[in-house]
Amino acid sequence: MSTTGHLDLPVIDRATPAPVPAGCRALGEGDLPLVLGPAGVDSGPGLVSWLLRNSDWVQARLVEHGALLFRDFNITDAVGFEAVARAVAPRLGKEYLGTSPREPLQGSDYIFSASELPAHFPIAQHAEMTFVANPPGRLFFCCFEQPGEDSGETPVTDLRRVWRELDEDLKARLVDGGLRIVRNYCGPGVKSRSPFQLKGWDEMFGTTDRVAVEAKCREQGFDVTWLDDNGLRLVSTQAITRDHPETGEAAWHNHLQVFHLSSAAGEYRRIFRMRPTLRNFAVWQFARLLTVLQGLTRSSEEQAMHCTRLDGSEIPTRDVEAVRDAIWRNMKVTPWRRGDVLVIDNHSTSHGRLPYSGPRQIAAAWS
Ligand SMILES: [Fe+2]
Repeated sequence: MSTTGHLDLPVIDRATPAPVPAGCRALGEGDLPLVLGPAGVDSGPGLVSWLLRNSDWVQARLVEHGALLFRDFNITDAVGFEAVARAVAPRLGKEYLGTSPREPLQGSDYIFSASELPAHFPIAQHAEMTFVANPPGRLFFCCFEQPGEDSGETPVTDLRRVWRELDEDLKARLVDGGLRIVRNYCGPGVKSRSPFQLKGWDEMFGTTDRVAVEAKCREQGFDVTWLDDNGLRLVSTQAITRDHPETGEAAWHNHLQVFHLSSAAGEYRRIFRMRPTLRNFAVWQFARLLTVLQGLTRSSEEQAMHCTRLDGSEIPTRDVEAVRDAIWRNMKVTPWRRGDVLVIDNHSTSHGRLPYSGPRQIAAAWS
């Protein structure tokens, strides 16, 4: 890397690939993620030592590529996964303010199931927790049990490229309008049957103490409204982009197309296009129908999740769809293999999940 004159930020020389330090080698030609396999170092502890020895190289490649996938090192439990993650980012987090239900995994206080959402739910591309004051810098996934063929992948997308590719008028409209997020959480013990409903607020904050919840929300800039049914409404605002802390590049870094009411139908439509099965068609049509019903029966404020402009007016669905198109155009899908560890630069690169059925166990950690 060199530095720019006026910004004093590093510039990545993408034209000259940096050789992989001894002990590992690049597998395949892809650059997102850069896939690295053993070439002398062939175990979990060996990988940890290699990562520590080559820390500068690893961090530079993470920023350059956006994600690294370590394959054939056979990392298949929480203890081994935590050690690998800490070799990249020593300070892992355990406070999760996202919307996926997650469970801690045995053997570590810092390793969680990636998502307990039902297997047929797609998870739209997102950088982790963009709506909190300080989102994670590094994100880690590990495949303890691989899903069946053509399913359950964790695709990744270069959000710097997404932002560059969006139409200039669309960018201006989105930035000028701003982004306001509404989330409605169930009260403790409430089990909703709606596929749109979020987990309980007690699960999100790990407490049933309203005072503690309010303090945490103040810290994060979430406006709190307690609802009559013991539910919780959170309203927050966020910018459309964030500049990468190391390169200064702007990246799409918000949850608009994830939280917008059109998300499920928009994702299923593209999943059907990618994998045109009868089942995917039926699920897409069902999602469309449910989305229309949700829109007719609930206001923006009452949706489980929704986004509007800062003034509360609706962002046209065609604008949200244009963003989805840019994301899907740049999305890279790599099948999981048991023992894989995926390391993501959360400042520049999003992740998501494609639907699956049958067994699959992916663990997650973040810094
Ligand atoms: Fe996530």
